[in-house]
Amino acid sequence: MSTVPVEPPLRVRGLRKAFGGLRVTDDVSFDLAAGIVTTLVGPNGAGKTTLFNQITGELAPDGGSIALHGQALLGLAPWQVARRGVARSFQDLRLFGQMTAHDNLLTAMEPATGLWQPGGAARQERRERVAQLLEATGLAAQAQARAVDLSYAQRKFLSLARVMASRARLWLLDEPASGLDRGSYERFVALVRGAVRGGVTVCMIEHNLDIVADLSDRVLFLDRGRLLAEGTPQAVMGDPALAAIYFGERAA
Ligand SMILES: Nc1ncnc2c1ncn2[C@@H]1O[C@H](COP(=O)(O)OP(=O)(O)O)[C@@H](O)[C@H]1O
Ligand SMILES: [Mg+2]
Repeated sequence: MSTVPVEPPLRVRGLRKAFGGLRVTDDVSFDLAAGIVTTLVGPNGAGKTTLFNQITGELAPDGGSIALHGQALLGLAPWQVARRGVARSFQDLRLFGQMTAHDNLLTAMEPATGLWQPGGAARQERRERVAQLLEATGLAAQAQARAVDLSYAQRKFLSLARVMASRARLWLLDEPASGLDRGSYERFVALVRGAVRGGVTVCMIEHNLDIVADLSDRVLFLDRGRLLAEGTPQAVMGDPALAAIYFGERAA
C-alpha cells in the first residue's frame, strides 16, 4: 500500500515582516493541518493579527513563502486569496453597519459558490442558505435588523456567519470568542466543532483560555514576532516560561 503525501492546507516558511525597526514577523514557519483547530496565542502586540494579514494578502511580507495546498499565495490580492477558499474574521468585525444581517450574509457569498447564477432557482437557494446561516448562528429573529443595531455577541456571530457563508475551507478567526457570555460561547464552540467535522481547517487567534482548552487541537505561541513553541494546549500552556510571557511576567 502506498501513501500519497498530503499537502497541508497551509504552509508558511521563513515569513518575515518589519515595520521600520520593529520585527513583527520574525522567521515564522508552521503548517496548518487539515481538519483541526489551531490556536495562535501570545501577548498583545505579538504579531498575531499581522500574521493573518500576510496570509490573506492584506499585507505584503518582506520575505518567506506561504502556500495553500502547494500553490503560492504571496502576491495575490485579498479577494483572490478569498476566492481560493480562505475566509477570515476581524478583531473589529468590519460588518456593513447600515445593512441588515440578511444582506451582510448575501454579500459574503462568493461567486464561486455558484449561488450568483441568474435565475429564480439560484435566488431561492441564496435565500435558503442565508436563512440557514441565520438560524445556525442564533440570528433568525434579527434577519432584518441593521448590523449596527445588534448586540456585541450578535455582531460576532454575524461575522462568523459571513465566514460560513463564503464556504471557505480554511477559516482564520481573529479573537472570535472574546467577550462572549456563556450561552454564546457554547454556541460558538458547537459551530466551530461542526465545521471541523465537515472538514474545515480552522486557525484562530484567541485570548480566551477556555477556548484553548476546549476547542484547540494545537497551539502556536507567538511572542514579539517569533514562534516560540507549538504543541498540544497542555504542553504549551503548561510551560511555566511561556505562561510567564503570556501573563506579562517576563523578566525585563
Ligand atoms: N501597519 C502597521 N504599521 C506599523 N506597526 C504596525 C502596523 N500593524 C501592526 N503594527 C505593530 O505590529 C505589532 C504587532 O501587532 P498585531 O499583529 O496587531 O499584534 P497582536 O494581534 O498579536 O496583538 C504591534 O507592535 C503593532 O503596533
Ligand atoms: Mg490582534
